Amino acid sequence: MHLAPKVPLNNGVTIDALGYGVYKVPAADCADLVSTALDIGYRTVDTAALYGNEEGVGQAVKGAVAAGTPREDLFVTSKVWNDRHGYDSTLAAFDESMGRLGLDYLDMFLIHWPCPEQGKYIPTYRALETLYREGRVRAIGVSNFEPEHLHRLLDTAEVVPAVNQVELHPWLQQRELRALHAQLGIATQAWSPLARGQLLDDPVLAGLAAAHGRSTAQVVLRWHVQSGHLVIPKASSRERMSANLDVFGFALTDADMAAVAAMDSGRRSGSNPNNVN
Ligand SMILES: NC(=O)c1ccc[n+]([C@@H]2O[C@H](COP(=O)([O-])OP(=O)(O)OC[C@H]3O[C@@H](n4cnc5c(N)ncnc54)[C@H](OP(=O)(O)O)[C@@H]3O)[C@@H](O)[C@H]2O)c1
Repeated sequence: MHLAPKVPLNNGVTIDALGYGVYKVPAADCADLVSTALDIGYRTVDTAALYGNEEGVGQAVKGAVAAGTPREDLFVTSKVWNDRHGYDSTLAAFDESMGRLGLDYLDMFLIHWPCPEQGKYIPTYRALETLYREGRVRAIGVSNFEPEHLHRLLDTAEVVPAVNQVELHPWLQQRELRALHAQLGIATQAWSPLARGQLLDDPVLAGLAAAHGRSTAQVVLRWHVQSGHLVIPKASSRERMSANLDVFGFALTDADMAAVAAMDSGRRSGSNPNNVN
């Protein structure tokens, strides 16, 4: 069994350096796939109200706990969707997510997108702070926040977000944002770490994979963990899930890291956060 190292967040709570993401995992398959992931050794699972599969995540987590995995070893993230911004609405959305998950507490709750045109991420975040103070969630954070959103949030926030989960991969390396995170003590978590699989044919990455006797996906995921990003790849087969977690037994050289650094083109596989409302 592979296990990812645990990494401390800014409040001392630990999360796995590499977890399992379930965007686009169909609700009907989710419990089985997450159970497989937990069996392989994944301990962190990333879902969201939007994904429509929180029930399956909860079932798999409860099954693993019933079979002997301590709940404290597991880390479940969910997110408040864009149509629930605002203080009261976010508190209600959290209750609904918890009802679907069927868990006693959540490990991390994120604002899914800042939705700048709505202009409500400050009261939304205040609701997260309330949930955090009440002990219903162990860590709170944001997702898809650009530097201007973080600065504005931090003007009033009492709890510094533990995480900003953003699109990040060799084509979109987010240098400015990562530097700001480092300054503020916010962990960078990479979504679509494989650019939804689109960068797996890249010849530079394929060359590195051949040199290390690894797959291209493993080289990309190794680049993430070696760069200090938390990472949450999604995969649909036991083989891919297992291979994706098996990236802690080799290292990229400085030259390899420089070759990947040179791939930063700004190409997104998802939406620009300023255009999502
Ligand atoms: N906060 C946000 O706004 C946001 C947005 C997007 C995603 N996320 C989170 O980030 C997670 C990961 O992002 P993602 O699902 O968009 O993309 P991703 O993890 O970059 O890529 C997933 C794709 O790569 C394929 N893949 C995975 N491992 C592979 C391997 N070893 N070899 C070949 N192909 C492989 C998968 O195929 P198969 O599934 O067919 O195996 C799937 O098509 C999501 O599940 C979600 O939890 C968050």
